[in-house]
Formats: sequence, C-alpha cells, structure tokens
Amino acid sequence: MTKLLVIAGSTRTAALSKKLARALCALAQGAGHEATFVDLREYAMPLYDGDLEDQQGMPEGAQRLWALVKAHDAVLVVTPEYNSSLPAVLKNALDWTSRPNAAAPGASCWKGKVAAILGSSPGALGGLRALVHLRQVLMNLGVLVLTEQFALGHADKAFTPEGALLDAKHTATAQNIVQRLALVSGKLAS
Ligand SMILES: Cc1cc2nc3c(=O)[nH]c(=O)nc-3n(C[C@H](O)[C@H](O)[C@H](O)COP(=O)(O)O)c2cc1C
Repeated sequence: MTKLLVIAGSTRTAALSKKLARALCALAQGAGHEATFVDLREYAMPLYDGDLEDQQGMPEGAQRLWALVKAHDAVLVVTPEYNSSLPAVLKNALDWTSRPNAAAPGASCWKGKVAAILGSSPGALGGLRALVHLRQVLMNLGVLVLTEQFALGHADKAFTPEGALLDAKHTATAQNIVQRLALVSGKLAS
C-alpha cells in the first residue's frame, strides 16, 4: 500500500481538475492504496511575498500543505492550463512549500518525492502545455516526475454524474499511472 497525495490545481467548486483528482483517488483506493485529496482552497495562503516571509515565515496554510506532502510517499498533481501554463494558485502553493519551514529546519517536503502529473481541460489538448511547465517546476524542487503523464482533453464531457471517467481507455491510462507511481515510489523507498 502506497500513501498517495492527490493535489488538484484549481480551487473552484466544479473544477474539472478536482473531478479528475477525485477519480484518481477512487482508482488508487480501488487498487489498495491510501489516497488523500487536496483542495487548495482549504490551504489558503497569500501570494508569495519575501517581506511577509521575513516577518511571519511560512503561512499556516502552506505549513499544513508542507506537512501533508512530507507525510505521503508520492504525489499526483492534476493541473488545469491557464495561458499555456500552470495556474497561479498551484504555482504559489509550490513556491511557498519550497521555502524554509521553521517547523522543520533544513528539511524539504518535496526533495526525493516521486510524482505523476496530469492535466485536464475542456480543450482538445487537455492542458498538455501546462504539464511541460509543471514538470519543470517539480523537477526543480527535487521531485522525480514519471515519464508517464495524462492530459485529459474535453474534460467537461469526460465524467459520469457520479464522477467516474466515462471512457475505459482514460480509466486504464489513469490506473496505469497510479500503478507506476506506486511501483517506482516503493522501489525507491526499499
Ligand atoms: C485565465 C485562464 C486562462 C486559460 N487558459 C487556457 C489555456 O491556455 N488552455 C486551455 O486549454 N484552457 C484554458 N483556460 C480554460 C480552462 O481550461 C478551463 O476554465 C478549466 O475548466 C479550468 O480548470 P478547472 O475546471 O480545473 O477549474 C483558461 C481559463 C482561464 C480562467
């Protein structure tokens, strides 16, 4: 059993990235893993500001997210695409959690983690261009990002009312990513 953290890169209630993240949680749990869904709205933090950091350190929401990342074996990040890149809310969360945390001096919550990245968009490309940037940012944090990735195009039509992926091929792709992530993270831990 692998402890997987599944982060959705959008805060809005009806976010397609949240739907895909929740579908991934269900698939991971179905495969016997532990999966924790992260709604970034519940980890609210200000825009990164170096003066604020100097005065107050890492904001409380970022500290909680930092601890959650640290406590999991591997991470799935589902990003929307904003202007060909990852949304500010996700980048900001990555920026804050990459900073020193007074609660754990010298430690990084990201370094040495394994991650898989997925995109979702109503457009045909499924956020593919955002994945290029997200991969680069995560690798800069010391995360090993799987080569397998998934960009879910036409994501507004991709789910059942209950939130499962409609297309069996999409389900198989998502299952394969979860399986690879668990396998690689298990091998690195052993
Ligand atoms: C500021 C902004 C920029 C966007 N840029 C893109 C884009 O570059 N490519 C794309 O496929 N969709 C783009 N979209 C549309 C989003 O893919 C769509 O709103 C999506 O549903 C947002 O993700 P969410 O459903 O997870 O919240 C953009 C939307 C916003 C608000």
